[in-house]
Amino acid sequence: MAKLTVHNKTFVPYLPEALILEKVRALAAQLRADYADKRPLFIAILNGSFMFASDLFKELDFDAEICFIKLASYKGTKSTGQVLTAIGLDTDITNRHVVILEDIIDTGKTMFEFLPQLQNQQPASLRIAVLLHKPDATVHPIRIDYCCFSIPDKFVLGYGLDFDGLGRNIRELYQLEDEV
Ligand code: IMP
Ligand code: MG
Repeated sequence: MAKLTVHNKTFVPYLPEALILEKVRALAAQLRADYADKRPLFIAILNGSFMFASDLFKELDFDAEICFIKLASYKGTKSTGQVLTAIGLDTDITNRHVVILEDIIDTGKTMFEFLPQLQNQQPASLRIAVLLHKPDATVHPIRIDYCCFSIPDKFVLGYGLDFDGLGRNIRELYQLEDEV
């Protein structure tokens, strides 16, 4: 895989597609062990998680449902940003076994603000599955139940994740090149 230029920034190959898919399949096996008899409801967070959610959901060979929500975080003039719901939840989660699918947990702010909204609706259980986690970037500690890759605090793109709108269509993950 060659280097990639997106919006004048250079990215280097990081995680190849085959490795990502291997981890996604392993996650599906874990979920089967934990949820096969529970008809879980997966809630995928748009936009970034669409590719992860699609590949994972195809691997599930038991009854499961999926729905999508879109969260947008706005940083105003205040230092505490707000996470707003751009497309809301249209499914009743009361007494359901819910698994959130998120592309990446960075500072944890998005999940920290969104989780209480779901807890309020009293699901039977609520867990988080992420493709990527940047433990060194944590500001709001979140319990992550399933994680494919723990990665360093460096910007990544590809496999659904974007840099300013571009890069989501790339099959593998790239990492921002160190500036020299
Ligand atoms: P948070 O800081 O945990 O709230 O992450 C918020 C969102 O920022 C994530 O859902 C991603 O959409 C985005 N994000 C964080 N780190 C990266 C990255 O390295 N590449 C692309 N998007 C990112
Ligand atoms: Mg996201």
